[in-house]
Amino acid sequence: MHNEIPSVGLVGWRGMVGSVLMQRMQDEGDFGRINPVFFSTSNAGGPAPAFAAAAGGDPGTLQDAYDLQALGKLGIIVTAQGGDYTSAVYPKLRSAGWDGLWIDAASTLRMKDDAIIVLDPVNRNVIDAGLDRGIRNFVGGNCTVSCMLIGLGGLFRNGLVEWGTSMTYQAASGGGARHMRELLNQFGALHSAVSAPLQDPASAILEIDRAVLAAQRSPDLDSSQFGAPLAGSLLPWIDADLGNGQSKEEWKNGAETNKILGTTDANRILMDGLCVRVGTMRSHSQALTLKLREDLSVPEIESLLANDNKWATVVPNTKAASLEGLTPVAASGSLEIPVGRIRKLEMGPEYISAFTVGDQLLWGAAEPLRRMLNIAIGAL
Ligand code: HSE
Repeated sequence: MHNEIPSVGLVGWRGMVGSVLMQRMQDEGDFGRINPVFFSTSNAGGPAPAFAAAAGGDPGTLQDAYDLQALGKLGIIVTAQGGDYTSAVYPKLRSAGWDGLWIDAASTLRMKDDAIIVLDPVNRNVIDAGLDRGIRNFVGGNCTVSCMLIGLGGLFRNGLVEWGTSMTYQAASGGGARHMRELLNQFGALHSAVSAPLQDPASAILEIDRAVLAAQRSPDLDSSQFGAPLAGSLLPWIDADLGNGQSKEEWKNGAETNKILGTTDANRILMDGLCVRVGTMRSHSQALTLKLREDLSVPEIESLLANDNKWATVVPNTKAASLEGLTPVAASGSLEIPVGRIRKLEMGPEYISAFTVGDQLLWGAAEPLRRMLNIAIGAL
């Protein structure tokens, strides 16, 4: 019986995405279904984490994440270690003949022909067909794309979107743990610069505003992670400059949406937009303009979205409901993807707006990998 439990290598389980993944695996009892083998890039020989033992497994000691022989013994490897690790280890492992399943959070292999982008509530058919034809690489999608497709699956999966724009409002945590710290330190520095006049209701607001701006522009403000001050500001560029006016984050929207959905050239959905970093902590938001293929009523659209999967949650298009349920503060820490501000735009009956928010560390990173692992072992 014990032998039938698959051994699964876990790499990069301590970082931000990895920590969320480990928590979700504990919450869902995944460690009772696998024999986890924990790897480390820096602490081989050290103790493996206790949470796996608590869930019934024997985690043993940490293995060296660069030990190809140790990795090669495993049928499944799940990594959230990052793109550099994937580039360094994955090709060598395959060259050495390893034919196990590689489940990866990094973007390195995403667009390769022999990789599938996993988001099973949206593309379980693509995943199953890939497994049947021997695909061995399963990669999590870009955070905003994944959250958009869970929230608006009812339109995208039914072939109802002709084209769309996604204008994003991406949280500091999308850059990593150091970015979150930098944002909070910046907020602290700005507050410190004006804490005395802020206490005094009679102080002049333009004086406070001038002092904040001076603090934002001060060379003493640490902006090393983001490259410019983010607190009280925003940064209209995310990821690399592709040289054609588009950022890499913006390119991913169209490329990954179509790959996830498995569209053909003939039914390709044109998606583009601008990606912006804002001073939120967690959860990426996006404002969408969609050109639909049909003139659907708003209730029809809402019903398609609400019934597509159990995580998309339609928020009524009212001020009260939007402020209560359609914000990063409301969405963070939840698998639910609220989608609201749905209305017909002035441009014509097929043009609609929508706004959606998703915890990018859950559906945008950890959850599709966790679910892919369960699909791979026949538990989902
Ligand atoms: N590319 C994303 C970002 C990372 O920079 O926000 C995933 O959250």
